[in-house]
Amino acid sequence: MSVDLPIGIFDSGVGGLTVLKRLMETLPNENFIYFGDTARVPYGSKSKDTINLFAVEATKFLISHKIKMVVVACNSASSNSIGILKKRFQIPIIGVISPSALSATQCSISGKIGVIGTYATIQSGAYLRMLNSKGLQIFQQACPLFVPLVEEGLLDHPATELIGEEYLAPLKKFDVDTLILGCTHYPILKPLIQKIMGNNILLIDPAIETAKTVKEFMLKTRINSLRKGNGIIKYFVSDYPRNFNKIANIFLGMSIKKVTTINIEEYSNKIMEQKFAQKRSKKR
Ligand code: DGL
Repeated sequence: MSVDLPIGIFDSGVGGLTVLKRLMETLPNENFIYFGDTARVPYGSKSKDTINLFAVEATKFLISHKIKMVVVACNSASSNSIGILKKRFQIPIIGVISPSALSATQCSISGKIGVIGTYATIQSGAYLRMLNSKGLQIFQQACPLFVPLVEEGLLDHPATELIGEEYLAPLKKFDVDTLILGCTHYPILKPLIQKIMGNNILLIDPAIETAKTVKEFMLKTRINSLRKGNGIIKYFVSDYPRNFNKIANIFLGMSIKKVTTINIEEYSNKIMEQKFAQKRSKKR
């Protein structure tokens, strides 16, 4: 395998650009292929079976581009589907849950950790399993309205603050000292969440933790690119949303010039057909 192959990264939509941004900062000479499943977002309110199906299709799509590893940027997909993906595909796969859980474990002094995320992430119990096994006390809270509020750009709007107060009150009462921002969108609300929680609460950003883990993994397995100069990024989406550029700017901090729209279902059926055809011709 060539170390110069790109890293594939997928999310339910544009939120995963927060993870891509950190990956680009940490590994500037790597090439990336980003896939945002914008036609089927949100994953956060979907069932486990549906998220598994979408995550498998997204991974197949990325692998068809010849990549060296997959980063699952979406918390909802990581928390529900990472096991299935690792079982099904040979390629190295890193999600956002264990890097964030590990960092929270190392940082918390009181052992009381809060986790916020979508319904899919919270109900999966993925963070809970990982942190409870280390003897920590966990308080989880779904914050579904944060996603549309961020996408509307209402980052320090009174409405967002009011909703934030409501969601975060139980975590404050539980007296957590560390809070995992378990959704691609939440790091964008860091200043507001810090204001509500107080300055002495440590906020864990899964994008930063995952980028560090990806770098460590690549150095350890020697699959990091030795390319000089910046890598290139290719963007794919399953639908081109009307406000794509505005939203992409919120997450990535810059506009994206070229985005290719693909039909993810057709694409993954085609890959399946090719595989069956290969198998048939081998049998003959
Ligand atoms: N990307 C999702 C996550 O991190 C948030 C948006 C959605 O619900 O799909 O959980």
